[in-house]
Parts: sequence; structure tokens; C-alpha cells
Amino acid sequence: MEKDKRNDDLLQLFEESQGQFVSGERISRKLGISRTAVWKRIKKLEADGYVFESIPRLGYRLIGKPERLNLHRLRRMLAGTMFGERIQLHEEVASTQDVALEALLSGSPEGTLVLAETQTKGRGRFGRAWHSPPGKGIYMSFLLQPGVPLFQASQMTLLLSVALCRAVRKTAKANATIKWPNDILVDGKKVSGILVETIAEADRVKAMIAGIGIDVNFSAEDFPPELRESATSLYLAVGERTDREELIAEFFAQFTKLYQVYQEEGFAPIRNLWIALSSTLHAPVTVTTPQRVISGIAEGISEDGALYVRDDQGSVHTLYSGDLTISPRL
Ligand code: BTN
Repeated sequence: MEKDKRNDDLLQLFEESQGQFVSGERISRKLGISRTAVWKRIKKLEADGYVFESIPRLGYRLIGKPERLNLHRLRRMLAGTMFGERIQLHEEVASTQDVALEALLSGSPEGTLVLAETQTKGRGRFGRAWHSPPGKGIYMSFLLQPGVPLFQASQMTLLLSVALCRAVRKTAKANATIKWPNDILVDGKKVSGILVETIAEADRVKAMIAGIGIDVNFSAEDFPPELRESATSLYLAVGERTDREELIAEFFAQFTKLYQVYQEEGFAPIRNLWIALSSTLHAPVTVTTPQRVISGIAEGISEDGALYVRDDQGSVHTLYSGDLTISPRL
């Protein structure tokens, strides 16, 4: 893993102190930096997931370290799938989507997988930011080359959401459902999102960069206030920590099976699985697209993955993408 080395000297000091307090003055002397700089570096480590006890006059004591994904274990777990061969695990990147795109442009094949412990510019659909605190979530992007015509690209998004929903149910024992097109909800709140960026050549998909973000072991304070109403984590929903490597491995096991079904039998079986896991169908919804806002009842999914919404006047709208909210039932 590419490691952030900026605080290695400070962490080394805490290692040597074997769980005892280290005074700010001692740190400042040993590292040749001011007391303010010591405080700033402690804050940076805290933001990275380290936990310190701090007592005036005694100083700081390291009491918790961030969890880290284990690359060797992941490789073992993904062996036998096309995702086990080329795994990049980064400590911090701007966005795993960008790193995966670079890999694609330099010739990396389908199955290339990029993971990061944190992202500084994680992005979601509609240009939104994706909050990516270190060590507690899953932030990954991988390359796909399904060789399908461009109009079928949204099918892959639905396939990904079925794999993800099944993996979350199995690994975290959470009652996950899919909100069209591909958000995973638990208790009506979002725990995971999928961003698929498509590179097209004429009217065919040349490659897809599938990005998945999962709020795995976040506590309530890990969410910025504006997300606390609408988002949750698996930890908050089920009250237990989820093993991130197991969840990643289960996702790719599910995905690999479904991808094969898709390539052999087409979208119809995937569509049925999606319908069975959906919390959107038959619900009153509002869908916002760049062109319009449609409210009505979500009636069904088309053969190519579009959503049918029947409005109050009885007109049925076919929507290929958009931001959907489920209206509360009266
Ligand atoms: C959404 O629900 O809007 C999609 C969120 C996708 C987030 C993931 S995290 C890994 C990958 N890198 C990014 O910058 N975004 C995706």
C-alpha cells in the first residue's frame, strides 16, 4: 500500500512509548517542531483514524489505530475471479475513478481494481461529493468491458446494484433494498452508491469505470451534519462492525456470477432479481432529471433498465437516469 509517510516520525515516538503518555514538549523537542505544529499533526492523525487520549501536562497517549485493508488477504479472497490479478490499494487518492481511468488509458485490462482508504475528492452522481472518511468505508473503482451497445449501459448499473445489495445482505445481515437506479438503502437510508462512468466508441461501450462507495463502519459523527438524515452505515444499522475485506470479496463473488449470467442469458434474469430487491417499484416517487421533474407511481422497469413512472394524468414516462426520492406514504 502506498503509505502517507508525513507522520511516520511522530507515530514512531508513540510506538516507542508503548502506550504511555508522551508530553507535547517532548514531541516538540524530538521532532524539532513547535508545540502548535505538534497539535496540528495530532489533529491530522486523528482525522486519519488514530485515537489519542490527551491530558493537560501529561500530553498524548495513542489508544487506537485506524483499520487498514489487508492487500494479501484481499488477493487471496479474490483469487479465481478476474478482480484478483490487478489490485491497487492506495492510502489516499483524489478519486479512485480517476486512478482507474489512468489505468485504463495506460492499457490495464478489464478486472483492474483500485481501492483507497480515503478519497479527498470522492464524487457521486450529479457532480455531488462522496464523503470518504479513512479506514471505515469501501471506496473502489474497477474496469469493465462488457462489449455491449451504448443503449444497454444502464443495465450494467442495475446489475451492479443487485450484486451489491446481495453482498450487503449476506455479509452484514442488513435488510438492504435497491432504490432506482442503484442506491442501496437500509432502514430507508442510503448506505452505498454506485457511479458508472462510460467510455463509448461510436454507439458501443468501450469501457466502464464502475465506482462503489459503501458506508461500512462509520459512526454517527463520521457523517457531516447534512447527511445524517439521509445516510447511514452498516454499523449504525446492524450494531456490529462488518469485515470490509469480506464484503468486498462477497460483492465480487456475486458480481462475477451475475456478469456471467448476463453475458450468457442477457438482461432478463438480472431484471427479475433487481425487481425482487427493489424498494422503488409501486412506490410514489419524484424523479428529477436535468430536463424535468416527474412525480407519480414507479410502475416497472423496461427491458433495458429504464424506469416507468405513471403521473397523476395517467401518462407513463420512461426514465433512463435521474435522481429519485420516494415520497412518504400517506
Ligand atoms: C452516488 O451514489 O452518487 C455514487 C457514489 C459513488 C462513490 C464511489 S466511492 C469510489 C468511487 N470513487 C469516486 O470518486 N466515486 C466512487
